[in-house]
Amino acid sequence: MVAVINFGGQYAHLIARRIRQLGVKSELISPDVKLPDLKKLNPQALILSGSPYSVYEKKSPKLNIKIYNLKLPILGICYGLQLIAYQLGGKVSSRQTKQFGKEILIIKNKSPLFENLLNKETVWFSHGDQVDKLPRGFDIIASTKNAKIAAFQNLQKKLFGIQFHPEVSHTPKGEKILRNFLFKIAKARKDWDLTEVKMQIVKKIKTEVGNDKVLVALSGGVDSLVATCLIREALGSNLYPIFIDTGLLRQYDIHDFRKMVKILNFKNVQIIKAQDRFLKILKGVVDPEEKRRKIARVYFEILEEEAKKIGNVIYLGQGTIYPDRIESAQTSKHADKIKSHHNVTLPHGLKLKIVEPLAELYKDEVRTLGRILNVPDSFLNRHPFPGPGLGIRILGEVTKERLEIVRAADEVFISELKSAGLYNIKEGSSKMSQALAAILPVKSVGVMGDARTYSYMIALRCVDTVDFMTADWSKIPNEVLEKVSSRIVNEVRGVNRVVYDITQKPPATIEYE
Ligand code: XMP
Repeated sequence: MVAVINFGGQYAHLIARRIRQLGVKSELISPDVKLPDLKKLNPQALILSGSPYSVYEKKSPKLNIKIYNLKLPILGICYGLQLIAYQLGGKVSSRQTKQFGKEILIIKNKSPLFENLLNKETVWFSHGDQVDKLPRGFDIIASTKNAKIAAFQNLQKKLFGIQFHPEVSHTPKGEKILRNFLFKIAKARKDWDLTEVKMQIVKKIKTEVGNDKVLVALSGGVDSLVATCLIREALGSNLYPIFIDTGLLRQYDIHDFRKMVKILNFKNVQIIKAQDRFLKILKGVVDPEEKRRKIARVYFEILEEEAKKIGNVIYLGQGTIYPDRIESAQTSKHADKIKSHHNVTLPHGLKLKIVEPLAELYKDEVRTLGRILNVPDSFLNRHPFPGPGLGIRILGEVTKERLEIVRAADEVFISELKSAGLYNIKEGSSKMSQALAAILPVKSVGVMGDARTYSYMIALRCVDTVDFMTADWSKIPNEVLEKVSSRIVNEVRGVNRVVYDITQKPPATIEYE
């Protein structure tokens, strides 16, 4: 495997995904990793990621200096390049003219890293610092107009650094550079093939669970669906899928679920009707985190009750994926807690043991696995829907009336996106990755048929994103927005105004609460 040392840069996950896409197993590793633990992983190479820090800041994350002596090929990207320079005796400083965006890279010296590249290539920069002085034993291999040292190497020690980001699509030859590093320099073996990975996961579930029963709560989303298919492949009839109708679902969720059960031929399926139970505990609750906590508590209570009813259920299957785990670990360590996503924050005292078949995988890999498992694209390409459902798309108190309104508005929005051919995620595309309608708890004045109205406002949100950590608002054609708005105010009673959200994440999040 190739270890990506994660210094907190926004593209660290992307680096790991790109390496896996090139057929080599890759994992994010914390810079605090202990040397024996790193050795145990037996990496074929290391990649040092970017970071929001500057290397000369006291609190900036550093690499254990002994790691440079392990004789492993290392590629430092952006902050990674600066760290190599800084830790091995070079000099790094901040610049007045920062380099952000596209730049022309001029290749100055021969390097296996840049094999088969032209002398000038477009690359993507995103950092304010620069290396001013090389460490001993290093040579410059590329420059730009503003940065003399844009890439360097110590060929003998197989240490390389690039100031730009090869992992982003704005660096057209980025993949070639990563390929050169992996296969020409590190001589990495191809060991990441999802068909193989699928077989390993199924085998692991078989050994872990044996003849015990597993309950899985399907949410209608991709992750829990693919996890369920894997568990079924491993355990057959010992799988008990359930779907909880929380009353916080969208118009089409139950219908789609029934269709999915039929097409995929799931057995032992139960739909638990619990709308009243959820509405009751949400009465008077306006705080988003309290909503999440209450919804999660009742959700897991129901799961435990159902497990008891079935009898002898030992395991609960979950669709937790790799970024969920990494992000929740980071949340406890460096970052502020933004939201408590409930598939990673399990309630205290849960008696069921957890099986997480997708714990090592990224979302795009989950979709590919789904295809390998013959899950139709129409299910795999559904937008994510959060565990607390419409509960966090109704700002303020959840009531029956507000649920009906947001449900009807969402139905119009999604069906219009579908008819305009804008809904499906194409493989590898970030466009329109999630669309939703939310109801804002304010009323505004309008006029309808000569009469004054005083009604709710619907906010539409649709984002382009790869990893859901950062997102841009989708540039939906005006005609589509116009049709959606006109249909909502005409068809959804209690709404007289529709707004389209044009905020990026950050600073806004994708959901409203
Ligand atoms: P945010 O709103 O944090 O959303 O920008 C990022 C992604 O996570 C989903 N999300 C959730 N998923 N439980 C979930 O299972 C939650 O509480 C939750 N909150 C947000 C959101 O829909 C988006 O895909």
